[in-house]
Amino acid sequence: MERSTTAFSFSLLASLALGFVLVVRAQQNPGFISIDCGATNAYIEEENNIAYETDEGFIDSGNNMQVSTEVIYENNLQSSKNVRSFPNGKRNCYTLRPDQGKNKTYLIRAIFWYANYDGKNQTPQFDLYIDVNYWATVSYSTYCYKEIMYVPQAYDIQVCLVNTGNGVPFISALELRTFDDDIYRLRSGFLQTQERYDIGLSSKSFIRYPIDVYDRIWAAQNYDWSTVNTTAAIDLSDGNDAYKYKIPGEILRTAQTSMNASIPLYLQWTPSISLSTKKWIVYFYFVEIERLTSGLQREFTISINDHRFTKTVSLEYLKPVAVVSSPVGGSFITFSIESTNKSGNPPILNAVEFYTVGDLPNVPTAQDDVKAINGIKATYLIKRESWQGDPCVPSNYTWDGLNCSYGNPPRIISLKLSSSNLTGDIVSSLSHLSRLEYLDLSNNQLSGAIPETLADLPHLRFLNLSGNNLTGSVPEALKKRVMEKTLNMSLTGTAIPCLADPCPQKKKKHDILIPVVASVSGFLVILFGALAVVWLSKRKQIAESNKRTLRLKNRPFKYGEVSRVTGNFGRVIGEGGFGKVYHGTLDNGTVVAVKMLSESSKQGYKEFQAEAQLLMIVHHGNLVSLLGYCDDSKHMALIYEYMANGNLRQHLSVKMQPIEDQLKVLTWSKRLQIAVDAAQGLDYLHNGCKPPIIHRDLKTTNILLNEDFRAKIADFGLSRAFATENDFYVSTCPAGTPGYLDPELQSSGNLNKKSDVYSFGIVLFELITGRPALMRSRDGSTSMHILQWLIPIVERGDIQSVMDPRLQGEFDINSAWKVVEIAMSCTRPMAIQRPDINHVLVELKESLVSISGSFEMNYSELQFDSAPMAR
Ligand SMILES: *[C@@H]1O[C@H](CO)[C@@H](O)[C@H](O)[C@H]1NC(C)=O
Ligand SMILES: *[C@@H]1O[C@H](CO)[C@@H](O)[C@H](O)[C@H]1NC(C)=O
Ligand SMILES: *[C@@H]1O[C@H](CO)[C@@H](O)[C@H](O)[C@H]1NC(C)=O
Ligand SMILES: *[C@@H]1O[C@H](CO)[C@@H](O)[C@H](O)[C@H]1NC(C)=O
Ligand SMILES: *[C@@H]1O[C@H](CO)[C@@H](O)[C@H](O)[C@H]1NC(C)=O
Ligand SMILES: *[C@@H]1O[C@H](CO)[C@@H](O)[C@H](O)[C@H]1NC(C)=O
Ligand SMILES: *[C@@H]1O[C@H](CO)[C@@H](O)[C@H](O)[C@H]1NC(C)=O
Ligand SMILES: *[C@@H]1O[C@H](CO)[C@@H](O)[C@H](O)[C@H]1NC(C)=O
Ligand SMILES: *[C@@H]1O[C@H](CO)[C@@H](O)[C@H](O)[C@H]1NC(C)=O
Ligand SMILES: *[C@@H]1O[C@H](CO)[C@@H](O)[C@H](O)[C@H]1NC(C)=O
Repeated sequence: MERSTTAFSFSLLASLALGFVLVVRAQQNPGFISIDCGATNAYIEEENNIAYETDEGFIDSGNNMQVSTEVIYENNLQSSKNVRSFPNGKRNCYTLRPDQGKNKTYLIRAIFWYANYDGKNQTPQFDLYIDVNYWATVSYSTYCYKEIMYVPQAYDIQVCLVNTGNGVPFISALELRTFDDDIYRLRSGFLQTQERYDIGLSSKSFIRYPIDVYDRIWAAQNYDWSTVNTTAAIDLSDGNDAYKYKIPGEILRTAQTSMNASIPLYLQWTPSISLSTKKWIVYFYFVEIERLTSGLQREFTISINDHRFTKTVSLEYLKPVAVVSSPVGGSFITFSIESTNKSGNPPILNAVEFYTVGDLPNVPTAQDDVKAINGIKATYLIKRESWQGDPCVPSNYTWDGLNCSYGNPPRIISLKLSSSNLTGDIVSSLSHLSRLEYLDLSNNQLSGAIPETLADLPHLRFLNLSGNNLTGSVPEALKKRVMEKTLNMSLTGTAIPCLADPCPQKKKKHDILIPVVASVSGFLVILFGALAVVWLSKRKQIAESNKRTLRLKNRPFKYGEVSRVTGNFGRVIGEGGFGKVYHGTLDNGTVVAVKMLSESSKQGYKEFQAEAQLLMIVHHGNLVSLLGYCDDSKHMALIYEYMANGNLRQHLSVKMQPIEDQLKVLTWSKRLQIAVDAAQGLDYLHNGCKPPIIHRDLKTTNILLNEDFRAKIADFGLSRAFATENDFYVSTCPAGTPGYLDPELQSSGNLNKKSDVYSFGIVLFELITGRPALMRSRDGSTSMHILQWLIPIVERGDIQSVMDPRLQGEFDINSAWKVVEIAMSCTRPMAIQRPDINHVLVELKESLVSISGSFEMNYSELQFDSAPMAR
């Protein structure tokens, strides 16, 4: 259907057009509601074959806006390219009415991508409500979504954006999916998705609809475990868990196991501050996908750290098993999956979902009242900013003109609609507000007779109908109430004979409104059509200018050249999250490290190409240079300068035996120099690059050392290239490496420079202590975050006990204290309390100068040009 035709039918035959959209939705994706907030027309998203509708019919308020043209191509989904924003009103609500009705389990996903749509470059913060209850606080600069599993108690589901005074709320898309089964139902409350992982998936970065019929988004996750996969068909027959949960076979066909049967799998995390009081529920999915020698069976026990939850599972070949944990809480949560003595095979994990439990403390207004007041709103075409969502709850967002009683359930007890341009008859819906005590309809253009049904309101004590064009007489039942003095009624200025004396009779004049309304809406239709054309042509221009700026001069490598440079991939020098790293030599003799990447989606690949080209022009003495890349559609490779001494983590983990290895221990002054080098690199990314580059995954394995032990940061900007639409879109919130992840990140998603500063603080602590960010106990059964271990000791003032024992006491105590203080400031829980990296750099340099009496340091100073180099 042509866009102009759609607009035409919407305006003239609104109900018919709406009916058409509903039919399209039903045929395309039964059980789905998919709203592209801010979109001007309906369409089918090619990426996932989901039909998106506009906001029409779901919300009355708000403005359609397009995201900034500078970033519009960062995300491929059409639905992210525009938003609906709500500059007016405290609370703006979408109303969803799924065909399957109430008391059903629904997945509801609200998607946000700020993308500087308002040109203010300031991410707003606002609250999200599900019906009358708080759901989440939103403040994302990146693409992010909030998702819950919700069982509504009414036919209408309201998703509300609440302005809390920290910026204008907006939304990119809103999705609802219907579950056929009560797989995610709690006795009370709702499940809020934190993570959903397809373990061991490496061929793509996420899976969703149409593979997952419920459109859950499964992110590829590869832990530091062994990966296994199969091409065999998983048994999805009726009656087993995969059937019930409708977990696609494709998700279950990949998995990870531990190295051997005596090593358990651990899943552990430290909930961020905002989640620390929540209970978590974990859904585990297991399938045996390896053919074990006959007679052998994989059997393991899943348990939580304090053993309040344990469950033993025995697997049969290709038969899925789902295990749902009981709710668990705490500041550090560990699940272990451990082989039983009988098994002889390592434990396996195919997929896992992490949820927190949300409470529903507020009770909505009585449904009869809600129905009646919505009827009144619709009949009289009442447009008031606050008339959205539940009429009474939460009490600070009550509709204006209403007062409620807050029993269980809350009820509407007074309604004031004086001077509100009401026309037509007094509607019977009013008499369904059965707890009404006070009703003021004065000074409107209401006509006709007073309906008898108003006398059905047993609690009505006050009725003001003054200043209306009413006729007839007062119904007997009302007259009786007035006579009995249980009702005060005012009819001044109406044509109705008075009940009592004195009764002043004054007739008012009234304006004529109706014809004006009709012609205004006709004009708007024409205007809208014209705007749409202008907008389309503008979009095209932007697309072309973007292409121009990205077409850079660098020549990419061919796969054949990469193969030759690496001597047919002869020497592996490392293995990272993205793939293997090979040693290579370019034709001009430059030694390089070649990182091969696993195949990715076509779109991700385009993004990668653009990002890689940009990173090739970023040069600084403390950043590992990207020298080239290969963008053959099947093979992707990044070619880096070679760093002879590997990564920092290796050097912090050296053993003290034999004696030769002792010599390899990094001295304190070398560590300080490495800290300064890394801070310099990060400072350049944050403050020297425009726009700033956020590393997002800074850690000791990403800090590489050259032959002189000078440090350079690697892999910067990459998470963005890969994230693009993928990670970006697969993780409910952006993630990094456990242990380095900013605790505020999970709660706010506000991925910014300060998250890198947090990770840098952890790196400093590793330099100080020699310990990894996540520390395992000797038997591997528990683990602890470095801060948990270190903070109490530092607070006691016992610095000797935190210093790396490998230093054997050889360090300058003053500079050590100083670095501990710097690291503490970098890892403060709230991002806002952390310093900028340039401040950190200044402090670190001071510490370095204070100990630079040692010959080692002088040597370094001579070697190093600390000013940023632009090549
Ligand atoms: C809601 O659905 C559940 C399970 O489908 C059922 O047990 C329960 O009785 C229903 N509750 C109401 C109020 O209909
Ligand atoms: C299965 O494993 C093979 C070899 O490791 C790998 O190439 C392939 O991509 C994996 N399949 C999936 C779906 O991850
Ligand atoms: C399992 O692996 C650990 C660590 O690699 C090793 O110490 C242990 O001996 C292995 N156990 C078996 C039974 O192979
Ligand atoms: C396995 O056997 C060892 C020694 O007999 C025992 O200590 C341990 O608790 C057993 N583990 C399980 C999971 O049964
Ligand atoms: C409304 O009440 C809630 C809960 O009592 C509170 O958190 C919120 O700040 C209030 N909002 C306003 C605008 O007063
Ligand atoms: C609601 O209550 C407030 C405070 O008691 C009062 O000022 C206001 O007039 C009432 N509104 C209605 C519609 O009754
Ligand atoms: C009533 O209509 C008049 C004239 O159209 C308008 O100026 C006024 O704002 C309206 N009042 C309300 C409460 O809608
Ligand atoms: C009824 O409404 C009119 C107009 O708003 C007002 O002047 C009058 O005082 C009201 N009557 C009572 C009894 O409050
Ligand atoms: C009616 O108004 C009078 C005078 O304001 C008051 O005394 C009386 O209580 C009212 N009656 C009712 C039923 O509210
Ligand atoms: C008042 O009502 C009468 C009879 O229904 C109608 O003829 C008249 O036009 C109305 N006046 C206004 C100003 O609405």
